[in-house]
Amino acid sequence: MSPQPFSILIMSDSTQQPISTQLTQLARDAFQEVFSGTELDLASIEVVQATSSEFGDYQCNSSLSLAKALKRPPRAIAEAVVGLLEADERVSGIEIAGPGFINFHLEDAWLARHVNAAAAAPHMGVPQIGEGERILMDYGSPNITKPLHIGHLRSHNIGSTLDRVLRFLGYAVTADNHLGDWGTQFGITLRGWLESGDEDRLKHEPMEELERVYVASYERSREDKDWLTECRETLVRLQSGDAECLRIWQRFVDLSIEELDRIYARIGVTYDLVRGESHYHEKLEPMVGKLIDAGLAQPSEGALVVFLEEEKLAPCMVRKSDGGFNYATTDLATLESRVAEFNPSKIIYVTDDRQKLHFQQVFAISRRLGHTVELIHVAFGLMRLPEATFSTREGNVIKLEALLDEAERRAGDVVRESSTDLDSAEQARIAAMVGVGAVKYADLSQNPQSLVTFTWEKALSLDGNSAPYLQYAHARICSVLRKFEERFPEADLTGVVPSLGEPTERDIAVHLARFPECLVSVAETYRPNLLADYLFELAGRYSRFYQNVPFLKAPEGVRESRLRLCQLVLSTLRTGLELLGIQAPDRI
Ligand code: ARG
Repeated sequence: MSPQPFSILIMSDSTQQPISTQLTQLARDAFQEVFSGTELDLASIEVVQATSSEFGDYQCNSSLSLAKALKRPPRAIAEAVVGLLEADERVSGIEIAGPGFINFHLEDAWLARHVNAAAAAPHMGVPQIGEGERILMDYGSPNITKPLHIGHLRSHNIGSTLDRVLRFLGYAVTADNHLGDWGTQFGITLRGWLESGDEDRLKHEPMEELERVYVASYERSREDKDWLTECRETLVRLQSGDAECLRIWQRFVDLSIEELDRIYARIGVTYDLVRGESHYHEKLEPMVGKLIDAGLAQPSEGALVVFLEEEKLAPCMVRKSDGGFNYATTDLATLESRVAEFNPSKIIYVTDDRQKLHFQQVFAISRRLGHTVELIHVAFGLMRLPEATFSTREGNVIKLEALLDEAERRAGDVVRESSTDLDSAEQARIAAMVGVGAVKYADLSQNPQSLVTFTWEKALSLDGNSAPYLQYAHARICSVLRKFEERFPEADLTGVVPSLGEPTERDIAVHLARFPECLVSVAETYRPNLLADYLFELAGRYSRFYQNVPFLKAPEGVRESRLRLCQLVLSTLRTGLELLGIQAPDRI
């Protein structure tokens, strides 16, 4: 049976659709009724979140774009539909502003019921726009046999966040860690290992030892031609299946994956597949054959290249003059294999922006080969650390583990000060959540495209846009709810619908209702920072609420309403942080 179309799915429970979807439908119905008989582009009519609260809660600017087709001034168009909009139970008032903008004010009681029901609804009322669709995600994908350094953080971090958000929206995601486990560097490492490998060191610090072997062998290859030849020969032996080379290589791969898993457990990254470039080794030759047959690859100075003049891209080499294959060849073979095996509607690659051209070329060639899968490269800028970021620093690259260690250490100082009542094991557990969370959030709160300058002050700040700030907000709400339970053990919040009598309460409800729309825009723009901004804004609105009205001292009824609102904020904050891959302790 084919999957149900989305329109049928959302019809079945329209009360839990995002408000912008509901109001868009309302507006389309109103326009259709008022202007029946006229040619109307109904799909162009949209109601969106108001860009500022002075424009109400939601706004519709379609009267302006329809003016030409309807041959009427936009204000007159808006005036004609206003009556139908105002009559709706979800709307408390409509304003026509400026040249004909329609501003919607939501009915408080309805809004309260909506956010209350969302918390109990499956997926918190987030529309399952991905139902029936598979997406393949390629992120992390480090080159192995060396330690992860801070440059590796963003791909894992942005990639795994998009992965979680897409799954939350109902997509079937296959996450593949496309390890760089094949290619030139392995000839160098293997030859170096055979010469000077140290078993003992390999046992204790495998990645450091492999990196040492690689660097020494690489440096020698630059001065010593014979050595370089031997490295190349070793690579040929490996790639043609020499048993000894393969055995050692497999050992390096296993050790690398073990190391990766240890760090992945710390940063909360998991994959469905871990298939290195080596997995596609036997598909490279046929791939090149296919490119030749399709008339795409042409000889050029002994190599084979695909010219991409039409796409205004530099030529892409798919086979070197020595017969070796390129990064692009591997990616083309990988793409074909993924399409054949998983039939995804979309493949998303998350790498830094230095690989932009590479992916443009690979995407262009796959188009020419007739692939229709949507291909997305989420390219991010570098993460930079100012000089003074580290108290201890080895060499000139900072290992990701060292960054995490230092984060936990610094978070430990903060936690020990704020939670003197907790035992040291509990403090350490919380410090790990706060430290790792701080590092991740410092990255995720930035537009992926921008360069991130990481500083401890900002990452660990308790009053700025940081993970600890959000974690504290979360812990504070937990604490309020605990106190409520202690003081009023009989009280039952289930079934309580918050009343939105105070402006700070209403502000929270309006924002809570926007959670689904926020996640949809993260998925559409590939920008986790939209979710970070959302949560920061939610925490800000909560803190104004908390500071302005009494909770436990409020009269019965009002008290329960406010605590129910606290619960709603809590569950959205927690879910949002989880989607960012940030753990939220119940107390700090
Ligand atoms: N291993 C590459 C690197 O470390 C990233 C691989 C990204 N994925 C891909 N399919 N090319 O730069």
